[in-house]
Amino acid sequence: MNTLTINQLSLTYKNGFQAIKNISLEIGNGMFGLLGPNGAGKSSLMKTIVGLQKPTSGSIVFNGTDVSKDPDHIKKNLGFLPQDFGVYPKVSAYDLLEHIAILKGIMNRSERKNQIMNLLEKVNLLDFKNKEVHTFSGGMKQRFGVAQALLGDPKIIIVDEPTAGLDPEERNRFNSLLNDISKDVIVILSTHLVEDVRNLCSEMAIMNKGHILRKGNPNELIAELEHKIWSKSIDKHELEHYQSDYRIISRQLVERELHITTFSEEQPKDFIPVTPLLEHVYFHTLTQNP
Ligand SMILES: Nc1ncnc2c1ncn2[C@@H]1O[C@H](COP(=O)(O)OP(=O)(O)O)[C@@H](O)[C@H]1O
Ligand SMILES: [Mg+2]
Repeated sequence: MNTLTINQLSLTYKNGFQAIKNISLEIGNGMFGLLGPNGAGKSSLMKTIVGLQKPTSGSIVFNGTDVSKDPDHIKKNLGFLPQDFGVYPKVSAYDLLEHIAILKGIMNRSERKNQIMNLLEKVNLLDFKNKEVHTFSGGMKQRFGVAQALLGDPKIIIVDEPTAGLDPEERNRFNSLLNDISKDVIVILSTHLVEDVRNLCSEMAIMNKGHILRKGNPNELIAELEHKIWSKSIDKHELEHYQSDYRIISRQLVERELHITTFSEEQPKDFIPVTPLLEHVYFHTLTQNP
């Protein structure tokens, strides 16, 4: 079992902006979803965990070793797929993996070749190994990103908004690939898509404005909302009126009617009960902490 313990972590950027505010998390093997809207601080947190930036205070401990005291310990065991890979050099997929493998310290030539070929096969890019990565489609680039993250058999894999820009089929394929590799390692997935967390993650946290607002097992978080979510169809002109009386956690236009959903301990007049979903957990949490 691997463990990542984040303890009272804060990060203030040089311009004075505090992107991470006193975050504590305990993460073990399996897929952990970090869910939050754009600007929540997800990438800031990921980059801090992988050691690309130093926290202002607090600690990150991986398998018993404090990352700030021994940064190489986590680096040796880490795979990172950043949100923004930047530009790809004009070399083939194989050569780029070879270069990254050397940077990761895989010095034995035949072992390196073995790993690269296995990974290219795993991410379904073997046929494209001599093609330059910048010519790849979005989905192929993301799969290449997974291959480079998996070099060196990492025990902790961090993927930042990996499905942004993928079409639905590519997204499914990418998600099932993540699911396959998460059995014996920690995978931290950051996303603004509730659906990806619902389908993949056994543990999750909701982040906004630098804070962790909720954390836990998705099904348990959903169960807490049982008999507390209500909906009603209204005319869209009535929305303003309802917004002043109820905290609307979601709204959906269906033909000409607007379905509004609200959180309440008691059944509001003329509302019907709704089976809670992870979407409700997410939007309830965000509207509760504006
Ligand atoms: N290097 C930086 N300097 C100052 N502010 C930053 C820097 N990087 C990110 N931010 C700010 O921190 C906040 C969180 O950004 P980010 O971590 O990228 O959020 P997310 O990944 O959840 O969209 C944003 O308001 C962003 O503008
Ligand atoms: Mg981000």
